[in-house]
Amino acid sequence: MAFPENFIKELTERNDIADVVSQYVRLNKKSGNNLFGLCPFHSEKSPSFSVSNDKQIYHCFGCGKGGSVINFIMEIENLSYPDAIRFLARRVGLAVPEDEKDENYSRRERMLQLNRDAARFFYDQLSTPSGEIARQYIIKRDISNAMVTSFGLGFAPDSWDSLVSAMQKKGFTKPELLDAGLARASKKGDGGVYDTFRNRLMFPVIDIRGSVIGFSGRILDDGEPKYMNSPETLVFSKSHNLFAMNLAKKSKMGYIILSEGNIDVVAMHQAGFDCAVASLGTSLTPEQARLISRFVNEVVIIYDGDGAGIKASQRAINILRELEIRVKLVRMVGAKDPDEYIKKFGAASFANLLTGSEKDKNYMLADIAVKHDLTTDEGRIAFLNDATNFVSGFSKNVDREVYSYRLADMTNVKKETILKEVERLHSKKANKWYKNEAKEEEKPVKMNQPKTKSIHFDDVKSATAEKGVISFLYSDPSLIDKCSELDENDFSDQLLARLFTEIKKQIEKRTEPSISSLSEYFTNEEMSIFAGTLNKPLELSNGEKAMINYINIIKAQKLARLNSAGNSSILNDFASKLRESKGYGG
Ligand code: UTP
Ligand code: MN
Repeated sequence: MAFPENFIKELTERNDIADVVSQYVRLNKKSGNNLFGLCPFHSEKSPSFSVSNDKQIYHCFGCGKGGSVINFIMEIENLSYPDAIRFLARRVGLAVPEDEKDENYSRRERMLQLNRDAARFFYDQLSTPSGEIARQYIIKRDISNAMVTSFGLGFAPDSWDSLVSAMQKKGFTKPELLDAGLARASKKGDGGVYDTFRNRLMFPVIDIRGSVIGFSGRILDDGEPKYMNSPETLVFSKSHNLFAMNLAKKSKMGYIILSEGNIDVVAMHQAGFDCAVASLGTSLTPEQARLISRFVNEVVIIYDGDGAGIKASQRAINILRELEIRVKLVRMVGAKDPDEYIKKFGAASFANLLTGSEKDKNYMLADIAVKHDLTTDEGRIAFLNDATNFVSGFSKNVDREVYSYRLADMTNVKKETILKEVERLHSKKANKWYKNEAKEEEKPVKMNQPKTKSIHFDDVKSATAEKGVISFLYSDPSLIDKCSELDENDFSDQLLARLFTEIKKQIEKRTEPSISSLSEYFTNEEMSIFAGTLNKPLELSNGEKAMINYINIIKAQKLARLNSAGNSSILNDFASKLRESKGYGG
């Protein structure tokens, strides 16, 4: 989908990169024109993540990620290009041209706006006198203020029409409130409506784009029903969304914790497990699993110890497995849910529970066994697949041997066969580890190569000069005069050639060079290379000299490449002519 150039221009002008990034990264430590902070894309202790105000780019000297404000949102919010555009547009109240043509769009937008305003209303109620009862409840449940803010918790007052009238004042109509599930029609049939959520602690359900799509409201006492959820609406589908996925998708844990309760999710986030989500009062659906699979390939399912949870987990496991997501089951012992567990035993113990180190190996094996039917051959084979893999990860020889024998007992397969398989897997794992170590050691040699995996410079010397030309041109467009002899065909690297051409075009059109317009056409990895290139510190007073020098290198390298390639193509030519004349025919 192509967005109009003017629109992208306005969008990026209004979304200043430093403003946007500051919402995620604490930026300070000025160095020249750059702001620095801790990189949100890899873990580090000293700041190597930079944001340049005048260039409107970000770039991490550590992991190499970078790009325009659009790429930043794509990366950090895990959004596609068009969704990142919508996200930024909403941030500054700009209408997205493509979307306006869509008939349902304005209805959807209205409903999202209403939900957003309602969430704001509920949140504000927490600080009113009537919100005292909810504040007390929040304290009773040990929910921190930080969690109230990051989840946007709120309070629906004990009144028939407080939300309805507040939203009507904002210009929303009764039918709109009904459609959004925030109001219900009064039974009297007099056209009156009343608030759906009354006297409840409100949990907004926020999708991965950051839109409030619905609500879940918990009663403040032991009454029934305990939870009330928004009905299915134009913007809310329970089966397609997960509570807290908007937060969990940004987690660096590398896996998702799937639990049942909203309060459990809040408690886990509060304890540092920011990858926790809950299905919205249903058992996991294939759509929810697909949503998860966009972000991680490992899920930890937490179920309660009473045994009833096993069946529910079983279904979830099958759905997740189908998407090749690794699944780990964690059984709660001594507490009915994660919230209670963390309160009773603390976050550290919960962490141990997740990694399995709190349990003994037998317990883990039993957990694996639960997932398979050991009375059938297929079941036993599948079990052995999982179980040998698990046992092969033990570092002690004696452990691997003992547990291999135990597996033999469980399946009636010969001990030796199992031990052999376990040892085979074990050395495979060990080899892989050594290989990775070796790769790390090679690194310094590759310094001038991009940090991203999929991009490689064939001619590093030329590419370095090419990057030099581009960065000078970007910072000082008047240097374009020095480039009249330089052609994109002179470039050794396709990607840099395209960037050069693009910037040249922009300068010729007399627009300020900007890479935001490129975000649509290049991948995040490619944009990272661009940002890295543009972010190189320059001494602009050397511009002309440096340009000439770089161009000379590029030309010389091109000649060198032509010579070596030329020779071989002449030889090839010669060889094929020879074959033809002798009638070998290839
Ligand atoms: P729980 O009863 O375990 O709730 O239901 P909880 O979140 O742990 O709350 P506390 O700790 O008892 O306060 C799990 C989930 O099932 C859904 C909700 O999404 C809830 O978070 N549910 C539960 C409903 O949709 N309706 C209900 O009446 C009850
Ligand atoms: Mn609970």
